[in-house]
Amino acid sequence: MHAVFELIARVAATRSTVLIQGETGTGKELIARAIHAASPRADRPFVPVDCSALAEGVLESELFGHVKGAFTGAVIDKRGLFETAHAGTCFVDEVGEVSPCVQAKLLRVLQEHEIKRVGGTDSFGVDVRVIAATNRDLGSLIAAGRFREDLFYRLSVVTLQVPPLRERREDIPLLAAHFLGMYAAANARPVSDITPEAMALLVAYDWPGNIRELEHAVERAVALTTSSVVRPEDLPPKCVEAVSAPGAPGSALSLRGVVTRHVRRVLREARWNKKLAAQLLGIHRRTLYRLTKRYGISLSEREPDGRDRRAPTE
Ligand SMILES: Nc1ncnc2c1ncn2[C@@H]1O[C@H](COP(=O)(O)OP(=O)(O)OP(=O)(O)O)[C@@H](O)[C@H]1O
Ligand SMILES: [Mg+2]
Repeated sequence: MHAVFELIARVAATRSTVLIQGETGTGKELIARAIHAASPRADRPFVPVDCSALAEGVLESELFGHVKGAFTGAVIDKRGLFETAHAGTCFVDEVGEVSPCVQAKLLRVLQEHEIKRVGGTDSFGVDVRVIAATNRDLGSLIAAGRFREDLFYRLSVVTLQVPPLRERREDIPLLAAHFLGMYAAANARPVSDITPEAMALLVAYDWPGNIRELEHAVERAVALTTSSVVRPEDLPPKCVEAVSAPGAPGSALSLRGVVTRHVRRVLREARWNKKLAAQLLGIHRRTLYRLTKRYGISLSEREPDGRDRRAPTE
């Protein structure tokens, strides 16, 4: 994510078109808003459009506006969202869903900075920065003839690839703590912490719905817990089950087994650096020592199986 944030700062200063690619719930809209907020256009409108939510004709007239009489029900001239976004930023979400006709019009906005209202005869100029997002693989849509290659090149002047949460598990403790504070405050719930066992489950789960799913899990736990801390039993059952499901790491193990395996794995990933391992787990180093003592986890490079490990870095 550091690479993404660094890129956000750099592209914010320009008016280049940005294409944000990532799975659902990875924070594409948040990133688009961050780019706008850090740009010289920050005090002008940020106009989001979800292209997957609207039927083709509706989307076209939403984006480009229409003139009176363009179609049944077009009783007055109407401005489109690109006009609303003039001097600001238009966030074109789920751009992979857009029809060929709208693709052609989008290309025109990007190339000529011009739009034409539906049913209108005149084109006029708009000054809009476009940030597009998609959770589809545009390459395969292009190969299937469903997305224009020229539009793709125009959109992807700068491409931001947002990694799924399971590929950046080290962010989970930070995000979980952030959401905990946020929902505890919003609901006036005196919940202040996540137990190491619960955190280990959060870090081990694969989060197909990414940050949005994690956010909902923490919100739910804050609402449900009868304690001042979030415990494993406060987490969504699927989060606990997936981690201990057959075939998953920690298969057929108790919570104790899951925690043990997970802590061992993190220690290994941290190359036996306890400070880093504690950071990755989102717990204090003291807590790590307590956990390893309680569960009999070895802190050294040599595991019970006797295989050699790298020398400890601490
Ligand atoms: N880095 C982050 N820190 C805190 N919250 C985040 C972060 N990234 C995303 N979120 C939160 O996660 C949720 C999902 O983010 P967002 O709507 O931006 O995702 P998305 O990629 O646009 O998802 P979709 O593809 O489903 O539209 C939002 O509630 C957002 O506030
Ligand atoms: Mg979105």
